[in-house]
Amino acid sequence: MKKDKQFNAQLDSIDKNLRDLFWQRMNLISGQEDGNWNKYYNQFKNELEDLSQQYKRASSKETNLFLNDFNDTSTFVDSAFTVSQKAKCDQNPNTINATLGTLYGEDGRIAVIKPIYDSFNRIDDQRKASYAERINGNAPFTSAVFNWINRLENISLAHDVIATTGGTGAINISIKNCLKEHETLLIPQIAWGSYAVMASQQRINVETYGLIKDNKIDLTSLKEKCHRIMAQQQKVVIVINDPCHNPTGISYGKDNWEALIAFFNELSKEGQVVIINDIAYFDYAIDCNNATEYMNCFNNISRNILILVAFSCSKSFTAYGMRLGAIIILAQDNRIVTEVSNSFLRSARANWSNVNNGFMDCFVDVMENHKEEYLQEKQELISLLKKRADLFIKQANDCQLPLYPYSEGFFITIPIQDEELLSKYHQALMNQHIYTVKFNGGIRIAICSLSLKKIDGLPNKLKEVLTQVEAA
Ligand SMILES: Cc1ncc(COP(=O)(O)O)c(C=O)c1O
Repeated sequence: MKKDKQFNAQLDSIDKNLRDLFWQRMNLISGQEDGNWNKYYNQFKNELEDLSQQYKRASSKETNLFLNDFNDTSTFVDSAFTVSQKAKCDQNPNTINATLGTLYGEDGRIAVIKPIYDSFNRIDDQRKASYAERINGNAPFTSAVFNWINRLENISLAHDVIATTGGTGAINISIKNCLKEHETLLIPQIAWGSYAVMASQQRINVETYGLIKDNKIDLTSLKEKCHRIMAQQQKVVIVINDPCHNPTGISYGKDNWEALIAFFNELSKEGQVVIINDIAYFDYAIDCNNATEYMNCFNNISRNILILVAFSCSKSFTAYGMRLGAIIILAQDNRIVTEVSNSFLRSARANWSNVNNGFMDCFVDVMENHKEEYLQEKQELISLLKKRADLFIKQANDCQLPLYPYSEGFFITIPIQDEELLSKYHQALMNQHIYTVKFNGGIRIAICSLSLKKIDGLPNKLKEVLTQVEAA
């Protein structure tokens, strides 16, 4: 008892010293010219975080001295790939594998746009075997990508394009180049899981913004979070996954984008704004010819805004395994674009060196010589997706299965905020041979991977299991 008292007294005394030191530090800062206590407070907070991490590592019996102090050595479970493997091992003939963001045909085989692979197969083995000509990606490829994004010829900003290993590579070099450790990346509340993994690799914090209110896009939360982060770090780096948001399937549309750019212009008076526009699924927007119309308002950005458009061939070109994409760097000022591009190039060199040479050739060949056939086959896939979505949504409405508002794209999601219910529901579905992906805020159904036959009746089953789990 006496020992406890002594221990508590010592703790109190240390805490008091810490408090005094904290106030001393803050008072010292208040005399500084910039008067920005937030910045100094964050330095202090980060230091405490580092010390806590170091203590945790030092006191752990399982410290892995081969790795640096900050690696996460726990087993990595990718929510989509892990559940997909489980589904593949399930022998039940009625198994529903609604996990991966890969488009399948009605025959249950992965959908491939034939003119693309015909072109790829015509490319010389020597070209396929060869390194690319530049780290940036071959010039015909980067210019074909820009033309593809600028299909409506509505982007008049200074720009550059760097080839990347898929959309993943594009987003990853954007995050790591624009933020430093302990700074904060802003992503949607319900979002593709890799954004957070990428941030944590660089020891970058993640904050989230709400996307939807009263069944439609709502910018209130986004604006509020942006203001808060700007006050803290004088810079906002935000991911906007649009059109065809993963996992809800919602799209912002032109009006919301105009409102967003107006807001970011105001915000950028206080510091830099980086908009990472992840367009991984844009080529499956219902009106895909006009899917980039919203980019028109990009031309109005202030000089303090940088836009990074992350493009992926995975979905656009049914080429998930080819690992090809690009980052399109847009700003008002040529100098900014060149500097960003130089910095990104070094990351590209260090991370993957250069990308798939043969597939870059294929992209250019299709764009130059087989565009019509490509567009026609892709349009058939868009129509197929729409049929699947229409059937799913109609049956969901009939049985009152709740859904996030869906506009277009590969996924439809059932909103569930309660984490315990979410996990139970996810597991209960697997027990019924229905494999889905659990997101923070819902259960994602990859309609892209389900035939109409598999979708028919699925909403009823989903509702039935949900009712059971809720009642349990
Ligand atoms: C939202 C989102 N962004 C980007 C990507 C990047 O894909 P990839 O690296 O295959 O191009 C994906 C893939 O699933 C995605 O879902």
